[in-house]
Amino acid sequence: MPDLVRAIVAEHRTTRGALLPILHDIQDRFGFIDPDVVPILAHELNMSRADVHGVITFYTDFHDEPAGTATVRVCRGEACQSVGADKLVADAEQVFGVKTGQTTPDRSVTLRQVFCLGNCALGPAAQINGRLYGRVDRGRLIEVLANEGDS
Ligand code: FES
Repeated sequence: MPDLVRAIVAEHRTTRGALLPILHDIQDRFGFIDPDVVPILAHELNMSRADVHGVITFYTDFHDEPAGTATVRVCRGEACQSVGADKLVADAEQVFGVKTGQTTPDRSVTLRQVFCLGNCALGPAAQINGRLYGRVDRGRLIEVLANEGDS
């Protein structure tokens, strides 16, 4: 992994604000940002580990552990909030038995929150394994996930 991380850094070394595109590439490649890459990035980019860690934790798009088999992203943006996003989040947490940001112990589902999926007119919105769904409620969430398992 360190060699691949260094190769990704090399691709972006001359880019202004290189850390963000580097982190995106690492997450695309590995599915998450392994905490072990922090010292490598700090060294390569001449930054402190705290600064690198701070960027990773500031952006909700970056994750420091691998996701489950299915990733459920529930929108908590304003438009979705106004039509029941909080209830959907509470239902999802109850259905999966985890809080947002966590993965079920069997690693079948990772539950995440986002703040707009660009589907505001059809809230509450959710994205499941990259597919966008509108007017999602508890029943539809369960149904969609069951169908995802079939596909
Ligand atoms: S606010 Fe939920 S999709 Fe835009």
